[in-house]
Amino acid sequence: MKKVLKGTVCALLVAGLVGVAYAQFAKTEDAIEYRQSVMVLIGHHFGQIAAMVQGKKPFDAKELQQNAALVETLSKLPLAAFLMDGSDKGKTHMKPAALKDKEDFKAHLEAFDTEAAKLAQVAAGGDLEAIKAQFGNVGKSCKACHDKYRSH
Ligand code: HEC
Repeated sequence: MKKVLKGTVCALLVAGLVGVAYAQFAKTEDAIEYRQSVMVLIGHHFGQIAAMVQGKKPFDAKELQQNAALVETLSKLPLAAFLMDGSDKGKTHMKPAALKDKEDFKAHLEAFDTEAAKLAQVAAGGDLEAIKAQFGNVGKSCKACHDKYRSH
C-alpha cells in the first residue's frame, strides 16, 4: 500500500514537473531560441568528441569524458521546447511534422538520450575503440531525428 502510494506521488510529481516545463516558455519564440541554443551546445560538445574519435585532436580520455557527460545532460533538456504548440512557425528549422506526431518525436529524443547516456558510460571506461563505436550510435540518433524533423 505504501509502495503504491509512493509510486502515485512520484508519478504526480513527475507530471507536475512536465507541466512546469511546458509552462516555462511564455512565447513560441522563447521555446525556439531555447532549443536552438541547446542544439548549438550539443553540436559543440559532440563535435569535440568527433574531433578526437576522428584523430583530428589528440585523444584525452578525461576531456572526452567531460564532453560526453555534457551531451548526456543536454540530451535531457529540450523536449518541452520542441513540443510547444505553434513553435513550428517562425525562425525555426523544425518541421511541422514534429507537432503532428509528438509521440514519435519524443521517441526519437529518447533514443538519442539513451545512446548519449551509453556514450557517457563508455567514455568513462576510456577505451577509444569502444567510444568510437558508441559515438557512431549517437550520431545515427541525431541523424534519424534531423532527417525526419529538421528542414535542413
Ligand atoms: C529528437 C530530435 C533531435 C535529435 C535527437 C537531435 N536534434 Fe539537432 N535539431 C533538431 C531540430 C528539430 C532542430 C531545429 C531546431 C529549430 O530550428 O527550431 C535541430 C537543430 C540542430 C542544430 C542547429 C542549431 C541552430 O539553430 O544553429 C545543430 C548544430 C544540431 N541540431 C545538432 C545535433 C546533434 C550533434 C545531435 C546529436 C548529438 C542532435 N542535434 C540531435 C532535432 C534533433
